[in-house]
Amino acid sequence: MRILVVGGGAREDALSWRLAASPSCDAIFAAPGNAGTATRGINWSIPITDGIALARRCTEERIDLVVVGPEVAIAAGVCDRLREAGISTFGPNRSSGRLESSKVYAKRFMERHGIPTARAVVVHSLDGAMKALDEWQGGCVIKADGLAAGKGVVVTSGPDEARSVLQQWYGTNKIPGGGTDVLLEEKLEGREVSVFALSDGRAMIPIAAACDYKRAGDGDTGPNTGGMGAYSPPAGFPAEMNDIVRERIIAPVLRGLLAEGEQYVGVLYCGLMWTSDGPQVIEFNVRFGDPETQVLMPRVTGDFAELLKSAADGAIDLSAAGFAARACVGVVLASAEYPRSSTPLEGLPANLELGLDAQAFWGGSKLAENGTVNSGGGRVLTVTGLGDDLHLARTRAYDAVRDLAARIDKPTRLSFRTDIAAAPNVTIS
Ligand code: AMP
Ligand code: GLY
Repeated sequence: MRILVVGGGAREDALSWRLAASPSCDAIFAAPGNAGTATRGINWSIPITDGIALARRCTEERIDLVVVGPEVAIAAGVCDRLREAGISTFGPNRSSGRLESSKVYAKRFMERHGIPTARAVVVHSLDGAMKALDEWQGGCVIKADGLAAGKGVVVTSGPDEARSVLQQWYGTNKIPGGGTDVLLEEKLEGREVSVFALSDGRAMIPIAAACDYKRAGDGDTGPNTGGMGAYSPPAGFPAEMNDIVRERIIAPVLRGLLAEGEQYVGVLYCGLMWTSDGPQVIEFNVRFGDPETQVLMPRVTGDFAELLKSAADGAIDLSAAGFAARACVGVVLASAEYPRSSTPLEGLPANLELGLDAQAFWGGSKLAENGTVNSGGGRVLTVTGLGDDLHLARTRAYDAVRDLAARIDKPTRLSFRTDIAAAPNVTIS
């Protein structure tokens, strides 16, 4: 198979790495790709939202499978364009992609189909928001409707803080994502876990789960980020977690999609809060997570390319690939100022060969002509360790982080959390 991965972050580096290692993969491409994907295949410089150009190039290059990483590509209808051109595509069409691109759509969908989620009201103006808050009890989470690259959610302590956030959002006319609708949502208490389900348009099957760490600093302090680390499988959740998620979340989601004529092909990322009443959906993402994918891919056994191809072709074959009963821990190395700013870094070593069961995946970056790597900054690398248990995986990951830091000229230019998977029963963000 000739496979294209759309996207250029560490998630796509990890997908490309695992797909390239699949027995059925003959050649791997990425658009735009990064310094990692360039080492195992060919990068195309085509924008991730240009579905027509991507489809044309896929036809010319006889691509057998496209795996779409970023939500912006899905929301731009890239999967629709690829399918129209007859190209086998792993990723949902724009219409079902609204489960991520519109939080109001997702909330209404969950309400229609009895999927457990936090109580919420939708407001369209500052006036409406203030009225709703007058009656609000308890903690309040404010969510902008549209895609906002992780900046559209504010967890407040109550109505007063919520008022001030909404005054800023509506007052300066800068609602993250650019829309006008905002959700006010009940604040849930519990532990977060992300469950990934594959769908071929007819069946939807949970395949793996992970926990990520969103705050910049140790002990879940500091600002929210795109994710500073993750581990898989989750620790400390009820033994019957998989059955509960399948029955209460995945089954009604699939029934709802089918009832509404949505043919969902791809991965559905269910962001859950495990409360005293069981799981509640915090968000849906319509693609693999970052950095969760970096800790899922090292656990894959079998032919992952064949698994995604079978889903893309409407007849998912779960025997093609699975997940080893091993643990994986991933630590994100970010530029020092992240998430306040993303300072580009130049001249990083391209060769990231690490010890046994350790991997490093590049974020947004380019291989320079002199053979070194220029990184766009932000989340520069995700370093992972795989082990028979979480402790071993964590030791391998942090050994690899230290090894890498010693090989990178000025290690102080990169920052990372030191507590990823340290105490998974309590430290989950
Ligand atoms: P989202 O972008 O929807 O994933 O939200 C970002 C983060 O906000 C989540 O990972 C949670 O930590 C937090 N969050 C979102 N919704 C809620 C909620 N209803 N209750 C408590 N925390 C929430
Ligand atoms: N790790 C969260 C996300 O991918 O959206």
